[in-house]
Amino acid sequence: MPRKMPFQKYKAFQPVALPDRTWPDQVISHAPRWCSVDLRDGNQALIEPMTPDEKLKMYLLLLELGFKEIEVGFPAASQTDFDFVRLIIEQDMIPEGVIIQVLCQAREELIIRTCEAVKGARQVIFHLYNSTSTLQRKVVFNMSREQVVQLATDATAMVKAHTDVLQAEGTDVILEYSPESYTATEMDFAVEICDAVMNVWQPTVAKKMILNLPSTVEMATPNIYADQLEWFIRHLPQRDKAVISLHTHNDRGTGVAASELGLMAGADRIEGTLFGNGERTGNCDLITMAMNMFSQGVDPELYLSDMPKIVAVSEECTKIPIHVRQPYAGELVFTAFSGSHQDAIRKGMARGESAGVWEVPYLPIDPTDVGGSYRETVRVNSQSGKGGVAFILESYYGVSLPRPLLLEFSPVIQKLSEGGGELKPDTIWQAFTNEFVDVEGPYQLIDYKVVANGERQVCEARVKVGDNVIDIRGEGNGPIDAFIAAMVETLNEPLNVIDYQEYALNEGSQAQAICIIAITDEEQSKFYGVGLSQNTITAAFGSIIAAINRKWR
Ligand code: KIV
Ligand code: ZN
Repeated sequence: MPRKMPFQKYKAFQPVALPDRTWPDQVISHAPRWCSVDLRDGNQALIEPMTPDEKLKMYLLLLELGFKEIEVGFPAASQTDFDFVRLIIEQDMIPEGVIIQVLCQAREELIIRTCEAVKGARQVIFHLYNSTSTLQRKVVFNMSREQVVQLATDATAMVKAHTDVLQAEGTDVILEYSPESYTATEMDFAVEICDAVMNVWQPTVAKKMILNLPSTVEMATPNIYADQLEWFIRHLPQRDKAVISLHTHNDRGTGVAASELGLMAGADRIEGTLFGNGERTGNCDLITMAMNMFSQGVDPELYLSDMPKIVAVSEECTKIPIHVRQPYAGELVFTAFSGSHQDAIRKGMARGESAGVWEVPYLPIDPTDVGGSYRETVRVNSQSGKGGVAFILESYYGVSLPRPLLLEFSPVIQKLSEGGGELKPDTIWQAFTNEFVDVEGPYQLIDYKVVANGERQVCEARVKVGDNVIDIRGEGNGPIDAFIAAMVETLNEPLNVIDYQEYALNEGSQAQAICIIAITDEEQSKFYGVGLSQNTITAAFGSIIAAINRKWR
C-alpha cells in the first residue's frame, strides 16, 4: 500500500465566482506606491528583534533605496519601537517626501500611546487594524459581524478624535485601515466594514485614506486573491476616496505572485519587506517584486543597484542569511555551472546588447545592474564544459585559448573536477600553468642573448638538457626563428612551428606577455606550449621549451 499524507484533514479554499474578471488582461506598467514594513512586520518575526542601532541602520538603508512610506514600528506595543519613532522625529531624520507609518490595534489606550509616539512628525500614516476573519470572529473573539463593525468604527472615531489634536499641531495624519485576515473574511463583510470605517473617517478624493487588504495567512492560489480584490474594488462604494493597498504573506510561497496579480486587479500600493522577511514564511518580497518590474522594462522606482550592500545590511539587521538562490540577490543566481548554459551565456555576452536591450540566455537581467559582475556568471565544477574553462581563463586572466589547446586542456579540468566541488579560478590557472607552462621534461632554458647580425638575428642560449648544460647557437629572421634554429641544429631537436600567438595579459609596466605556440615533430604530432614573462622573447622561448618538453613527456 503506498503511504499517504493525511490530506483529508484539509479543505479547499472556495474560489470566487467572477466569470467577468478583467485582471488577467492587465499588464503592470508602472510601480505602485511601496511601503516597507521591515521595521514592524519584519522585525516582529525575528528570533532576536533589531536593536535600536540595527533599526536605524535598516531605516537608513530603506531611505537610500527610495522608500517613501516606511512602517517604523508598533510603538504602543514595544518601548524600543516607541523610542525609535521618537528618535527619528526628534533628530529630524525623516526627509521631506517620506511618510512614517505606525501600527496600532483598535484599543483606546494604544491609540493614545501611538499618538504620543508620533507627536511632532510632519506627516504620519496611522495604521489601525482589527481581525475580521470568519474563523477569528468565531474562535478567538466570539463576536458577530455587527460587533466587529462596531469595534472598527469606534476605534476609527477614537483615532479621529485623538489625531485631531495632532493635526491641529501641524501633523498631517492619513488613516490606514486593515481588516486583518482579509482573505479569510467574507467578501461582502470586508466591503461593509471598510465602508463603515470610511464613513467615520470621511476621506475625500483629494485626501484619500488607505484600505490595506492583507492576506495575513496565504490560503489560496494568487489568482483567487486577485479575484477577491477585483470583487472588492468593484463593490466598494467610495473607491475614489481610497488607496487600495496589499499586504501579502508567503505561506504558500506565492506572496510576490499574489501582490503582482493584486496590482493587476487594481491595487495602488504594496506593503512588504526586503527579501520577504516577516512572520512565518515571510511577507511579500519587495526586492523581487521591484526587480521583476525592472526586468520587464518598468521603472521600479526603488534604487536597487547595490544589491551586495542590501544583502549585507539585511543579514546584519535580521541575522538571517540570504539564500544563495534568492532571486536577483543570492550568490548563485547569476551563475551557471552546466556546460550548455555556460556556452550560451558566453555567446550571448559576446554578442552584446541588441539595440540597447539585454538579451543573454539564462540571464534575465544584466548582473552589473545590481552590483554583480560578469565573472560570477560562470563557475566550474564537474557539470561544466570547456566553455566554462575558457570563460574563466578569459575573464580572470585575459587568456584566450585556441580551440585545439582548449580541447587538450578540458580533460585535465574534467579529471580535477571529478574530485568533487567547485574549481576556483586560481585552481584552473594552476592546472593550466602546470600543464602548458611549467612543464617537466628534459629541457630547461637557463639564459640567452639575441644579437643582430645585419638583417638577421643570432641567438646564443644555455640550455640544461638532463644533467648537462649545453651552449646552443642559431641564426634566423627573428629571435624565435634563431632560437628554433639553435635547438634544431645544436640539439638535433626537429620542430616546426605551426601556430604562434603572443599578447599582453594585463596593462601597465608590470604587463605579462603570454606566448602560445604549437609545434609539430617529424611524425606531424602537434604539441602546445605556453610561455609567460614580462619579456616577450623570454615568453616565446619558454613556450617553445614547454612544447618540446610536452612532446617528450
Ligand atoms: O499580516 C497582517 O495582516 C498584518 C496586519 C497588521 C496588516 O501584518
Ligand atoms: Zn503582516
